[in-house]
Amino acid sequence: MMWISHIATAGLICALTVNAQQCLPYYQDCSFYSRCLETATPCGPSGYAIGLAEKICLRSLAAKSQFSPAGQKWAWNTILCLQETLVPIANGSMILSCDQIKTFGYNSHLECYVKSGFCSLPISDVILIYHIIDIDDEVLRQAVLVAKSCARLYYYNLLNATY
Ligand SMILES: *[C@@H]1O[C@H](CO)[C@@H](O)[C@H](O)[C@H]1NC(C)=O
Repeated sequence: MMWISHIATAGLICALTVNAQQCLPYYQDCSFYSRCLETATPCGPSGYAIGLAEKICLRSLAAKSQFSPAGQKWAWNTILCLQETLVPIANGSMILSCDQIKTFGYNSHLECYVKSGFCSLPISDVILIYHIIDIDDEVLRQAVLVAKSCARLYYYNLLNATY
């Protein structure tokens, strides 16, 4: 009971201090794309939010039991990272066209994947992730980029381990 009232109080304080425009992503949730991003800048069913990002997010949610424990953690953190990157667009502090949102979104994938620990995932998770994101060529290109940057990371670690 106690903590519920604390949360309610914190929520009230946030509601009073944070700009009413703020629309934020939640952990283990894909609703930010339609609830916040698409609402702020509608780009339709083939735009980045609905046509790509939300699809990948929902596919990841649906596949959660197929991930290893590390892979699940990776997926949750990546999903949140990808959505958090888009907050400035959803809250109106960054005004981008639909094409620009797509580029901005794509560019955030590599960093979010690697930052969430993609390079140390078991190969079974990597294969699963490749299946999940295999929606179109542009995204596949991202996957290849990730693989390349991991290769560099492994090479770097190898060099450091050797000398
Ligand atoms: C929009 O989001 C960014 C990143 O979270 C934040 O720094 C900024 O203050 C927000 N702007 C508004 C108008 O809420």
